[in-house]
Amino acid sequence: MKIDLEQISLSDQAPSAEPQRQYYFMARAREHVRGLEKKLGRRPVCCVTTFGCQMNARDSEKLVGILETVGYEITENENADFVIFNTCTVRDNANQRVYGRLGALNGYKRRNPHMKIALCGCMMQESAVIDKLKKSYGFVDLIFGTHNIYKFAELLTACFEREGMVIDIWQDTDKIVEDLPVERKYPFKSGINIMFGCNNFCSYCIVPYVRGRERSREPGDIIREIEELVADGVIEVMLLGQNVNSYGKNLKNPTTFAQLLRQVEKIEGLKRIRFMTSHPKDLSEELIQVMKESNKICRHLHLPLQSGSTKILKGMNRCYTKEQYLELALRIRKEIPDISLTTDIIVGFPGETMEDAEDTMDVIRKVKYDNAFTFIYSKRTGTPAAAMENQVAKEQVKEAFDRVLKAVQETAKEQAARYQGQIQEALVEEINENDPTLVTGRLSNNMLVHFPGGASLIGQLVRVSLDQCHGFYYMGRMV
Ligand code: 5AD
Ligand code: SF4
Repeated sequence: MKIDLEQISLSDQAPSAEPQRQYYFMARAREHVRGLEKKLGRRPVCCVTTFGCQMNARDSEKLVGILETVGYEITENENADFVIFNTCTVRDNANQRVYGRLGALNGYKRRNPHMKIALCGCMMQESAVIDKLKKSYGFVDLIFGTHNIYKFAELLTACFEREGMVIDIWQDTDKIVEDLPVERKYPFKSGINIMFGCNNFCSYCIVPYVRGRERSREPGDIIREIEELVADGVIEVMLLGQNVNSYGKNLKNPTTFAQLLRQVEKIEGLKRIRFMTSHPKDLSEELIQVMKESNKICRHLHLPLQSGSTKILKGMNRCYTKEQYLELALRIRKEIPDISLTTDIIVGFPGETMEDAEDTMDVIRKVKYDNAFTFIYSKRTGTPAAAMENQVAKEQVKEAFDRVLKAVQETAKEQAARYQGQIQEALVEEINENDPTLVTGRLSNNMLVHFPGGASLIGQLVRVSLDQCHGFYYMGRMV
């Protein structure tokens, strides 16, 4: 999307309607960036660093879109004129990494007095974080949260025009602002937000507190955005939401996620459809059928288990039992045999015994996950689980974690082996990081294959023979 900033008169007042208001501030920020360019004698550079999930990655593409529009050159080097960290707070180690990296930025800023440092994203929605930043990280110039990211151009302008730390955090919003610039990381694939926020309140999870209540975008807006992306060269989309299976429930004309998928499927030129994340409690039979019948929906379903113990699941407020989850996962395996099932698992939730961990391993072995992300429970202030008394001792968590991880590695290896020797379609994403004579492609089931090829293949769907399975990836050749 290109916005003609030349048409905007800065002598007028800022309009109150969105997104026009942000276009106005983009024009104003651009004047400041031009001024800085004169002072520095070179084009100002900026760096966007992303922590966390796919939602954050998509938000960062929006930040980059605006930074480019106002005249910055994008770099990956954090020693830049404008640096923004888009933060995550799902586990405490994500927070600690941000504090660590901020220390390095302070060093750069001492040598570059024009440098501006900004923080946004989930971690900024926590008041304790803001207190700490105000107290000990006074060199930060701009702080905003998840609900007002659409106002980035306006906040950036404020950062140029005001002295001291600019802080703007909203507790919640019902607003969805469309039509702001986005700069995609990959020309051929893109994430698309279909909904924001979460209403589930799993007892360990901070997301509902930092991302607010569930809001779905209108199907028409989503389809229009995907059509524009396809016209711009995108062939694979990832529909993003904290719980895509409850998409559409709160719209004026309620619809379902399966119905949305049917519409997306019809878009000509679009080759592949992915989505993230599915809550097992809301996964409908209709969705299984749509996936089964589709030529475009990828053979991959991420279905977070969290725990295989019904007792722990109850404490987690997940709203399903071990048996219900197993029934669902095995039904999906039966209906769509070539699907890849992946999951998230938390080890060490309050009250978890070795027996509970055994239940988790039992589910792993029965479902035979193709891959799983295994996390150690992290206590998040403000969540119900943080106040639970029976927090588990570190040594026990470590032992359970190692055993769960081993179970996952075994099923993943076994699953991957079942495709060895097959010919499958891969979307070539990049030159291999370690060997420039190879390219890396992604299969429909989300696994990677490396094979001989050059840059001209990037963005293309090619047929590849999966010659050797190496556990989590294949070595292959084009056929
Ligand atoms: N501790 C550990 N893992 C967590 N997750 C969410 N909250 C926590 C927490 N407090 C994990 C869940 C979720 C994934 C994105 O992060 O497994 O599915
Ligand atoms: Fe992290 Fe959750 Fe925010 Fe994603 S939504 S960045 S996982 S806290």
